[in-house]
Amino acid sequence: MFKSYHKLFISSVLVVAGTSSTIFAAQSSVSNTYDNGKRVIDGGVTYPVTNGKTASYHINEETLKGGYAYGKKATENEIKAWDIDVMPDGTGLPEGKGTVEEGDELYEAKCVSCHGDFGSGSGSYPALAKGNAEEGVATLKNQRTKPDMDGPIRVFGTYWPQASTLWWYIKTGMPHAAPLSLTDDEVYALSAYMLSINEMTIDGEELDDEYELDREKFLKIKMPNKDGFVPNIDGPKGTDNMRDYMSNPKNYGNGTRCMKNCFEGEPVLAKIQTEIKEFSPPLSTVRELPKADASATPASEGAKIYEASCAVCHATDAMGAPAVGDKKAWEAVLKKGIDTVHKNAIIGINAMPPKGGNANLTDDQLKAAVDFMIDQSK
Ligand code: HEC
Ligand code: HEC
Repeated sequence: MFKSYHKLFISSVLVVAGTSSTIFAAQSSVSNTYDNGKRVIDGGVTYPVTNGKTASYHINEETLKGGYAYGKKATENEIKAWDIDVMPDGTGLPEGKGTVEEGDELYEAKCVSCHGDFGSGSGSYPALAKGNAEEGVATLKNQRTKPDMDGPIRVFGTYWPQASTLWWYIKTGMPHAAPLSLTDDEVYALSAYMLSINEMTIDGEELDDEYELDREKFLKIKMPNKDGFVPNIDGPKGTDNMRDYMSNPKNYGNGTRCMKNCFEGEPVLAKIQTEIKEFSPPLSTVRELPKADASATPASEGAKIYEASCAVCHATDAMGAPAVGDKKAWEAVLKKGIDTVHKNAIIGINAMPPKGGNANLTDDQLKAAVDFMIDQSK
């Protein structure tokens, strides 16, 4: 499941990196604007495009045939560099080793601040262990059909179907602030510690402090919830499995399909997290809409007039007009007093034409526009 997500991520990164220059290069090649068939934008590296032309970025020839030339096909080596998946069959899992004790020390140094003592969780940071993973799995399963008021205990040991995800997750994602900072041996040590605090066994063997985890032993881990993901949606039978599963109402709820009057009395709902009962302010309160001020000319009218008749000169100071947003310029203007300023806008002043050149505007509309401009320049 992580694999496909990961690949998607890779391709989108490549697309982003190449997008703007790629479009540019592709369009240029179509309209033949290359100098001597070459265009060097950055770093002097050129790639072939079409008809002997080159560009600074690879072009995805497939997309050139129609539409935009976004991105390019990733090369084998690029995929190799990005592909740091660790798969259940051992693909991507490097050699290395580490003991539970070493993992314990690393955990105390790098993980305990967020994940709590012995993986007990702290605040909103996830718990990594809740005692024996086997027993935890039983709680999870019960939860689906016999809702347990205490909620399920869902941690990596009880939930995750594959141990490979643990190795990959710690290696690429933890510690949260410094991903990819741990060595392979450190990840083995931390994984060993994770398994020990989840009270898991490998090949029947308990993981005491001296237990040393390596690649070979890691691949023997059987996660307690390995078969807990039903129905099996992988493979050619996936859809049929899904139909079978969904057609048996015992697989969810209380076993009866029901749209109304489903419960006698109050329904018993599973509480997954602590219920929040008190909201402040309460979720539903009657609120009054602000009252419209009928006396004022709506600000939006001033804004509209400004956009239509004044912005052409007042959006910047390029025309010698006080620019809207320029606090200092308007402070200087306003020294004359608002009445004079209103009047000047109506009769004109120097390069400022009467009514901004729009004789159709009424005096009030002019004033509204001026007030809007002043308001935007405070
Ligand atoms: C700064 C806080 C922080 C530190 C330090 C940290 N983690 Fe985490 N860890 C998180 C957060 C947050 C998540 C949940 C991420 C998410 O769900 O997107 C997480 C998730 C995990 C998970 C997956 C849990 C699950 O069941 O989904 C594992 C395993 C894990 N961390 C191991 C470690 C290890 C090992 C270390 C030390 C090397 C470590 N973390 C250090 C914050 C931290
Ligand atoms: C053709 C360009 C142009 C247009 C259009 C224009 N103005 Fe002006 N405006 C100016 C210039 C230039 C000044 C500076 C005049 C001076 O002080 O020398 C100015 C100054 C002003 C002042 C300050 C007057 C003062 O007393 O200093 C106000 C207020 C004003 N314009 C409002 C408006 C309004 C409202 C509109 C739209 C209805 C508008 N202007 C349209 C060019 C323009």
